Amino acid sequence: MNVIIRNEREDERRIVENAIREAFWNVYKPGCDEHLMVHQLHDSSNFIKDLDLVAEIDGHIVGNIVCSKVVIENIDPMKEMICIGPIGVIPELKNHGIGSLLMEKAIDRARKMGYVGIALYGNPNYYHRFGFVNAKEYGITTPDGSNFEDFMILELGEGRLDGIHGKCFEDKAFEIKEEDLIEFEKEFVKKEV
Ligand SMILES: CC(C)(COP(=O)(O)OP(=O)(O)OC[C@H]1O[C@@H](n2cnc3c(N)ncnc32)[C@H](O)[C@@H]1OP(=O)(O)O)[C@@H](O)C(=O)NCCC(=O)NCCS
Repeated sequence: MNVIIRNEREDERRIVENAIREAFWNVYKPGCDEHLMVHQLHDSSNFIKDLDLVAEIDGHIVGNIVCSKVVIENIDPMKEMICIGPIGVIPELKNHGIGSLLMEKAIDRARKMGYVGIALYGNPNYYHRFGFVNAKEYGITTPDGSNFEDFMILELGEGRLDGIHGKCFEDKAFEIKEEDLIEFEKEFVKKEV
């Protein structure tokens, strides 16, 4: 299987939203809202174009990873931290290493771009393999000051997170309004929940 990991092109937004919708559909709840998150993130100033990657096989987009800037309470203004997500691979091709390729490329690029760390919410069984640890280890918490296993951090280089701690705030694009989702869904082929 020849998988190409590359940047998403401007004219591929809907194709990518479709792939994310396929990946998340009925996985965490009936239907999903991650395709709307991706849509909203694209229009945010925190969206990082160079870290918006797709996985392509034989000319078809089969996966996508998106990164955006986050704000940490106690961060040196010269330093920038990001979060990963959503990441999705279409159901037919899950467990073929495509998600790992997307993760590894995004992490490597983010490190080279000088970001200090990556936050994400997800299943630790998956993300520990890329070096993510409980955010508690860095004194970084969710916006309401809590910590749990699913909230993780990856430091992007020795000492880059020194002195950085506090609450971590993601972009507003992650907030989904039910009425917006209902409208957005009308633009897609109907799927059974
Ligand atoms: C999560 C996801 C992106 C992983 O991509 P992938 O190409 O299927 O994963 P890979 O082939 O790189 O890795 C497969 C391994 O990850 C594990 N894995 C996959 N999804 C997982 C999940 N959601 N939680 C825990 N482990 C997971 C598999 O069990 C497998 O483990 P193994 O190597 O020990 O056998 C993909 O499964 C997906 O799109 N899932 C639905 C959407 C989703 O949950 N996105 C992440 C939200 S945080």
